Amino acid sequence: MLNVASLPGDGIGPEVCDAAVRVLDALPIDVVVAEHPFGGRAIHEHGDPLPAETLAACRAADAVLLGAAGLPEFDGAPVRPEQGLIRLRGELDVYANLRPARGDGIDLLIVRELVGGLYFGASGRRADGSAFDTCEYTPAQIERIARRGFELARTRRSFVTSVDKANVLETSRLWREIVSGLAGDYPDVRLEHMLVDNAGMQLVVDPAQFDVILTENTFGDILSDVAAGSCGGLGVAASASLGERAPGIFEPVHGSAPDIAGQGIANPTGALRSVALLLRHAAAENDLADQLERAVDTALGTAPTRDVGGTATTVEFTDAVLSVGFR
Ligand code: NAI
Ligand code: MG
Repeated sequence: MLNVASLPGDGIGPEVCDAAVRVLDALPIDVVVAEHPFGGRAIHEHGDPLPAETLAACRAADAVLLGAAGLPEFDGAPVRPEQGLIRLRGELDVYANLRPARGDGIDLLIVRELVGGLYFGASGRRADGSAFDTCEYTPAQIERIARRGFELARTRRSFVTSVDKANVLETSRLWREIVSGLAGDYPDVRLEHMLVDNAGMQLVVDPAQFDVILTENTFGDILSDVAAGSCGGLGVAASASLGERAPGIFEPVHGSAPDIAGQGIANPTGALRSVALLLRHAAAENDLADQLERAVDTALGTAPTRDVGGTATTVEFTDAVLSVGFR
C-alpha cells in the first residue's frame, strides 16, 4: 500500500494534481491519496501556507505529491505561499533535488542541493536601507549531495559535471574541494568542473554533452529552468526531492501559472513525469514508471496542450495518457 499526501496548492497546481491522481488511481498497485491544504489557499483558510496538520500528514506518508505554491495577491505580503514550500523541503530534509531533462538527443539529470545555501542562509534588511542574503555550506552538506550525484551517475552514463563559481565564491571553492576529494571513491565515474556562467551557455548551445550536473541550490534552480527551456518548456519538466529516508517530494518544476489558471489548459506533463519519478524513487516500480513515461511521450505527440503547440485540454491530454493502459 502506497500512501501519497497530495498538496495541490495554488493556480494550476490543483489542475495538474488532478491529472496525477487520475493516473495514480489507474495504476495496478494499491495507492491511497489524501489531499491537504497548502500554499496560498492554506493561508486563506489557516493563516499558514504549511499548516501543522499538513506537515504531520506529509511526514506520515510514503511520498508527497505537490502542485504549486504562489498567488499574485501575496506578492510582497509578510506571509507568502512559497514560504510553505521552502519550509516543507527543510522540514523533510529533502536535500537532493533531481531534475531530469530529456529531448532531441538530450538526456541529462540536474542534481541540485536543496536545503542549503542562499535560500536558507540569514537574510534581512538593515536600518541603513540595505538588504542581505547569505550563502553558507558545511562540508557535510556538500558531501551528501555529491555522493548522491556520483551514485546517480552510476545508474546512467557515469559522467558528473560539477557546477560552481569557484573563481569568485568561497562556498564554491569549498564545494570544488569536497567534490574532488570524493572522486576517488567513484573511480568509474568521470568528473569535470564547470563555472556556472559557462554551464548556462553550454546548456543552451550543447545540452547533449551533459549526463549528471551536480550543483548547489541557487545555481541548480536557475540552470534547471534553462535545461527545461531546451527540452520543451516548463510545462514538461518534473522533479523529485529526496532525503535519506521517505517521504520524498514529487512536483512539476513550473509554478502556479496565474496567467492560465482556471482555464483547464495547463500541460500536466511535468506533474505526470513527477508521478513516474515517484514510482521509481518512492515505490521501486521502475516498470510502471517506464510505462508512464512512454505514455506521456506518446500523448505529447497525439494530444499536445497549447504550450507545446497543440489544442488539447488538461483533461484530454490525461485521457490520452490513460488510454494506453497500465499493466
Ligand atoms: P510559472 O512556472 O508559474 O509560469 C511561467 C510561464 O510558463 C507562464 O507563462 C505559464 O503560463 C507557463 N506555464 C507554466 N507551467 C505550465 C504548464 N504546466 N502548462 C502550460 N504553461 C505553463 O512561473 P511564474 O509565472 O514565474 O510564477 C508564478 C507563481 O508561481 C509565482 O507566485 C511563483 O512564486 C510561483 N512559483 C512556484 C513554484 C513552485 O511551487 N514550485 C515554482 C516557480 C514559481
Ligand atoms: Mg525555479
